[in-house]
Amino acid sequence: MLNSLTIAISKGRILDETLPLLEKIGIVPDEDPDKSRKLILGTNQSNVKLIIIRATDVPTYVEYGGADVGIAGKDVLLEHDSSELYEPLDLGIAKCRLMLAEPVQKKSGNGRLRIATKYTTAARQYFTNQGVQVEIIKLYGSMELAPVLGLADKIVDLVDTGNTLKANGLKATETIYHISSRLVVNKAAMKLKREQIKKLITALEKVI
Ligand code: ATP
Ligand code: PRP
Repeated sequence: MLNSLTIAISKGRILDETLPLLEKIGIVPDEDPDKSRKLILGTNQSNVKLIIIRATDVPTYVEYGGADVGIAGKDVLLEHDSSELYEPLDLGIAKCRLMLAEPVQKKSGNGRLRIATKYTTAARQYFTNQGVQVEIIKLYGSMELAPVLGLADKIVDLVDTGNTLKANGLKATETIYHISSRLVVNKAAMKLKREQIKKLITALEKVI
């Protein structure tokens, strides 16, 4: 008898890119997750459930065992910064870069450099490694606005095509991290549901 397996996924990009991978390994949700208001979805495999949550909550649910496994961006995992999760597989989806960016027309600033970002842990680590003292201003979105309105000198944000930076008069200057989504696994589940989780990892490895 197989144990039940709960997979945590976030709506949007990650769900859109994960559903085809799950389908290739034979897991199909009972309802369309984009249309359903349900937060727990059954699948064609009676022992596999999907939970649909915010991207930033995926590592938390997996760490505390609310889900056995999850799919989260490396950006989110860097910020979550926990040694309590296994990260056995890079799924190679939702690829982008965490970058430092500044106005194309640089404004002269005096005093300590101010950096606006949602990614405060990764940004702090980056500037510490560079030996540069900065003031980090935490934002929750639309970082591109901060230098335009004089809130910060530079931003640390995700970049894919570069269109968002360009549209707001910014340019990327450094790559801090290459980002993609990873499969994360709860440590206890890895022991208790070892066979099932190994099977899932092996199957995903074959289709990515
Ligand atoms: P939340 O809704 O919780 O605020 P979010 O808005 O960051 O989360 P998404 O925009 O769906 O959620 O992003 C999910 C993940 O996709 C990010 O954590 C990141 O790893 C990746 N990602 C974000 N922006 C891009 C992009 N422009 N191109 C490719 N991948 C991206
Ligand atoms: C992400 C990220 C950037 C943008 C970069 O935002 O925060 O703003 O994508 O992509 P680009 O280089 O291809 O323009 P997203 O589209 O997820 O919007 P949101 O996070 O602000 O909802």
